[in-house]
Amino acid sequence: MAQEKQVETTGLLGWIDQRFPLTATWKAHLSEYYAPKNFNFWYFFGSLAMLVLVLQIVTGIFLVMHYKPDAAQAFASVEYIMRDVPWGWLIRYMHSTGASAFFVVVYLHMFRGLIYGSYRKPRELVWIFGCMIFLALMGEAFMGYLLPWGQMSYWGAQVIVNLFSAIPFIGPELSIWIRGDYVVSDATLNRFFSFHVIAVPLVLLGLVAAHIVALHEVGSNNPDGVEIKEKKDANGVPLDGIPFHPYYSVHDILGVGVFLMAFSAVMFFAPEFGGYFLEYNNFIPADPLVTPPHIAPVWYFTPFYSILRATTADFLLYWMIPFLAIFALLLLVSARNNLTRLIGIGACGALILGFLVVDAKFWGVVAMGASVMILFALPWIDNSPVKSIRYRPGWHWYVYAIFVVVFLVLGYFGTQAPSPTNELFSKIGTLIYFSFFLLMPWWSKMGQFKPVPDRVRFVAH
Ligand code: HEM
Repeated sequence: MAQEKQVETTGLLGWIDQRFPLTATWKAHLSEYYAPKNFNFWYFFGSLAMLVLVLQIVTGIFLVMHYKPDAAQAFASVEYIMRDVPWGWLIRYMHSTGASAFFVVVYLHMFRGLIYGSYRKPRELVWIFGCMIFLALMGEAFMGYLLPWGQMSYWGAQVIVNLFSAIPFIGPELSIWIRGDYVVSDATLNRFFSFHVIAVPLVLLGLVAAHIVALHEVGSNNPDGVEIKEKKDANGVPLDGIPFHPYYSVHDILGVGVFLMAFSAVMFFAPEFGGYFLEYNNFIPADPLVTPPHIAPVWYFTPFYSILRATTADFLLYWMIPFLAIFALLLLVSARNNLTRLIGIGACGALILGFLVVDAKFWGVVAMGASVMILFALPWIDNSPVKSIRYRPGWHWYVYAIFVVVFLVLGYFGTQAPSPTNELFSKIGTLIYFSFFLLMPWWSKMGQFKPVPDRVRFVAH
């Protein structure tokens, strides 16, 4: 950002400013960071995600004071925190509720990006850092869940780490390397503890810093998808911009207040949340000799878990191969250019061949990974002439609504034991989930778009 170096010259602040860019940083990121004046409630979730990140780190520090990362003591040390450590139950419930709240907030934050096209030029890197945060967050939650050493901790980790053994050639060795043993054991608990407590949080903090720096370099998007930097006053201040501080710092307090009420209600009255936030099986100590009849990850992983379970040999043969064949035809007749056509059709061919020769278990793992990794592609597969949903054809709303319903249905079935109905819905859901992204280059530019105004729409309230 082309900004003059701003320094105080007198007093303590002057002393600091001559040695450290305190005032300049305050101005660049808060008091002179001009955010669009038409933010709505969707814009609460970024600051709420930061709040939950801090909450998780602070409660985590206190938990580590009493928790024992040892297979023989871990479960009992969590019970000790819950029963004997003064306020230990509160700290533990804040951390366990915080984990689910983190995903609620981040999913809503990502959905906002989706409907307002916030991932599009010039915010591609903001989005990419966001996707990397999401991956790190999934790793953080997965490893943290092993620590209480309950039945679900143990068997959940066993199932997920075992997935790596489906990778041809290196798989079995890779899963032993990840666990540090032939089964999930004390060695696994120790390394997951180390990653959960220090390695991944450091990565998360670094990525969040990069996310914000990238955002402040290009400026925030808004519900109209209008670039406010294109209309500035004589001082170079965007006409539709207002200083983040005090306007949005105060505005965000409202979001924080509502969030803390909902958070406290869950934490004090329903911390297990019907077995969705803390699974009932996890109140039984890990037992390597007793496999629970139904193993399911925590709710925030279940949409992806459903995709994994839906990918069976007959799904590949009777659903995916015809889908890819039609997709290849679509590319043949209407790809953007010859290179895309060649790469796209080549990839479809390679996948079809792969489905025929490599075990479906491997493709399940690939599909689960691809369902997250496909998010990275969004800035380049959305061909809509406008950013915000407000100016897209009305029926685009239904496309997003179907996507959300499918995500929730996949999530629900991921929590349930396998059954023929479950399998059918998961397969339909998986196909629609991937179609949403793979067909986006086409559907995103179809229909009657509305004219985008020059300035943001704003009604004072
Ligand atoms: C720890 C997790 C995260 C934190 C703390 C965080 C923080 C923030 C903050 C403070 C903002 C500015 C305020 C706002 O627009 O709401 C923001 C904007 C944004 N974030 Fe995140 N974020 C996180 C995760 C993600 C993820 C997972 C994605 C997407 C995959 C993402 C995508 C975006 C985008 C596209 C914007 C720009 C929005 C706009 O200008 O319309 N963020 N983030």
